[in-house]
Amino acid sequence: MSLVCNVVGARPNFMKMAPVVKEMRRRGVNQFLVHTGQHYDRQMSALFFEELELPAPDVYLGIGGGSHAEQTARIMIAFETLCLERRPSLVVVGGDVNSTLACALVAAKLQIPVAHLEAGLRSFDRSMPEEVNRVLTDHLADLLFTSEPSGKENLLREGVPRERIFFVGNCMIDSLRAHIERALLRRPWERFKLNPCAYGLVTLHRPSNVDNEDILRQISAGLEEVSKTIPLLFPVHPRTRKPIKQFNLGFGGTLMVGPLGYLDFLGLMAKARLVLTDSGGIQEETTALGVPCVTLRDNTERPVTLYQGTNRLGGNSRAGIVQAARAALSGDGTILRQPDLWDGKAACRAVDVIDRWLSQKGQEA
Ligand code: UD1
Repeated sequence: MSLVCNVVGARPNFMKMAPVVKEMRRRGVNQFLVHTGQHYDRQMSALFFEELELPAPDVYLGIGGGSHAEQTARIMIAFETLCLERRPSLVVVGGDVNSTLACALVAAKLQIPVAHLEAGLRSFDRSMPEEVNRVLTDHLADLLFTSEPSGKENLLREGVPRERIFFVGNCMIDSLRAHIERALLRRPWERFKLNPCAYGLVTLHRPSNVDNEDILRQISAGLEEVSKTIPLLFPVHPRTRKPIKQFNLGFGGTLMVGPLGYLDFLGLMAKARLVLTDSGGIQEETTALGVPCVTLRDNTERPVTLYQGTNRLGGNSRAGIVQAARAALSGDGTILRQPDLWDGKAACRAVDVIDRWLSQKGQEA
């Protein structure tokens, strides 16, 4: 009997994998869920399981933080032991975090086929650890599920065989559509004394933005300027907390709080006038919600959010951020057409492919 191993590790994995795990359980696919423990704080992990109604992981590897090599290596060692014990027929990984690459590499070396959710995205910026993880995972994968048109173009250009690529849509948007009503009912903006559609929401955690003092100072100055026009709420990622303290940075009128759960953040995002972020997923969520987004980077691996959505690139200089925020607030250039297949059914399409693939393998065996 075939056995599927679904892998999660860090915060952005949970909302992508939740609809896939649910769909597999609904269909009675024989599967188990592994959490590497890359993210481990309650606010970065357990809360997401509860709010996304994800069953507790069957296996928790408890890896935690460390340098890239340490973290990736520890995940690989623990995941290899697990794969040798359980011998899954397929390993499903999502996104571009260290857990994604570590588990894909282990599976490939054990000749266990790999499926990659959110395949083919490219920033063409190899200084981003996520870009390295994406490229390598895609070239290890047997089934590649793309979320937007650029995914397939990039994979074909890199020589990935066409028959491995499946455009299924965006699983993270499945979670958004499933939970938006509950999120809005919580009215999370009231807790922070904010009025709907009259505040900006900020997130920041990319190493290229937060590890360099000059850049983080530019961003803080840009946000301070924007906060003179609109109040800003900034839930601070654990890795960003340290440099803010170390460089002794103030963020002017910005209200800084700890990381928020999925539902509160989704509710806040839906009623924001503007979102300023360096996250990947939030660029997509704001497009799905029709909320203007300024990406605090010079590039994006999610171009559909620029040409079809509400996203614009603001870079990480004070002037660039202020200019992009002004343009976003004045509403110019915001063209909204929902990207194809961001319809809440992406996981269903991905599991269709997996189901077919498993039964074909079963017949061959
Ligand atoms: C990781 C992903 C990034 C993703 C982000 C979302 C990689 C290479 N990067 O970055 O793509 O956008 O997650 O959050 O995989 N920490 C805690 N508590 C936690 C988790 C992390 O304190 O629950 C600390 C770690 O100990 C470390 C820092 O935050 O000091 C960074 O964590 P790490 O998992 O290395 O990467 P992220 O920056 O979170």
